[in-house]
Amino acid sequence: MSVYLIKGGRKLLGEIDVAGSKNAALAIMSAVVLAEGTTILHNVPNVSDTRTKAKLLEVFGAKVQWREGSLVIDCSELHDGEADEEVVRSIRTSFYLLGPLLARIGCVTLPAPGGCKIGARPVDLHIKGLTALGAELDLSDGRYTARATNLVGTEIYLDVPSAGATQHLMATATLAKGITVIQNCAVEPEVTALADFLNRMGAKVEGAGTSTITIEGGKHLEACGYTIPTDRLQAGTYLIAGAITGGDVTVRGIIPEHQTAVINKLREIGADVSEGPDWLRVKASPNMKGVRIKTMPYPGFPTDMQQPMSALLTLCEGMSVVEETIYESRIGHVQELNRMGATIMQEGRTSIITGVSGLKGATVSASDLRAGAALVLAGLAAEGETIIKNIHFIDRGYDNLEGCIVALGGDMRRIASQEKRNKVGDPTH
Ligand code: UD1
Repeated sequence: MSVYLIKGGRKLLGEIDVAGSKNAALAIMSAVVLAEGTTILHNVPNVSDTRTKAKLLEVFGAKVQWREGSLVIDCSELHDGEADEEVVRSIRTSFYLLGPLLARIGCVTLPAPGGCKIGARPVDLHIKGLTALGAELDLSDGRYTARATNLVGTEIYLDVPSAGATQHLMATATLAKGITVIQNCAVEPEVTALADFLNRMGAKVEGAGTSTITIEGGKHLEACGYTIPTDRLQAGTYLIAGAITGGDVTVRGIIPEHQTAVINKLREIGADVSEGPDWLRVKASPNMKGVRIKTMPYPGFPTDMQQPMSALLTLCEGMSVVEETIYESRIGHVQELNRMGATIMQEGRTSIITGVSGLKGATVSASDLRAGAALVLAGLAAEGETIIKNIHFIDRGYDNLEGCIVALGGDMRRIASQEKRNKVGDPTH
């Protein structure tokens, strides 16, 4: 077991290339099974979620090889498999394999999904959509078994614009005969990336990025090559790192318009944000002020940036109000930030943050991926040393986080927890 040791108080300065998008990669890794043959995905982030997903694909007969940031996946011979419950529960997108595998092999069993513990995260929309496409689903002993002899295009209305359900059903519908129309879709960039990938395979998907997606299904799909777009959530985290440390950080290789909500809030806070065609630069200002934030489906303020942005707001003058509307318990950062000297009052889904003049290093624990990112940001800005436990959550979604932070001038190391105990016992440290 490792922990992060951060020595705070250094301004982060410089430029950084952002890794591939975890969420886009995970959705696309489910869709590769739709085509026979070998797909090559480039720019796949090296994070634990993509490694876990690759292992899961092997359970169903895919042959997977990592080649320097690319994933080579041969789906020529697929079969049903006994996926380990712990593995499936550890990543939510494991469930998005159900429909595409069903479309390819006619019968598949998968344990119910998991993911970060940030709310109830039901899968009712996935189930309703698959059933409408002609799947028979049976839940027994925590495992879903799906069967279908013939998937047929249909009309699907999503009660909420779920990114996962949109991706899962859109991918499955490419092998359902006839036209499928999905309404009230998520319009996240990761949905559009998946549609691009499906079309590259020979599917006919139209309307991704709008609330209605139409799929002309039943086309022959061919394995292909595809480059995963960069990760807007990792990019956003580095921009906030620039602001919270009083620094000046540029993220490169990104699509600035995917960051509109985050950029607007950074500007409202008082940071200086400039942009080019594929980069964004954030310079902190000495007088950053609190703001109101309400998370919303894209293009609203992303729920994944709520916790990192809250870390920044703890050091902004005055009061901030942060309302989380997507997940009911995405609040694991609150107690830990308060241990570092922040003043956050939690009332239901709303955090009321009163800015303080400084944070102090402490031993804290990540409760989920983005809560962990928030603690890293706070540790970089805090006086003294911060130790972050449970960093396996952070490893789910940040590719070489400590390498990137060090490249920007931060002092952050991954150490064995045994080493941590030695340090605590070492009075000279
Ligand atoms: C994805 C992202 C996650 C991000 C979220 C919202 C991945 C791996 N994860 O998660 O980082 O925070 O989008 O942008 O891509 N819902 C239902 N029934 C369902 C499915 C979802 O009620 O069947 C609800 C959820 O409880 C939640 C809302 O819909 O309140 C949005 O969830 P969804 O967009 O599906 O999130 P994920 O795809 O799980």
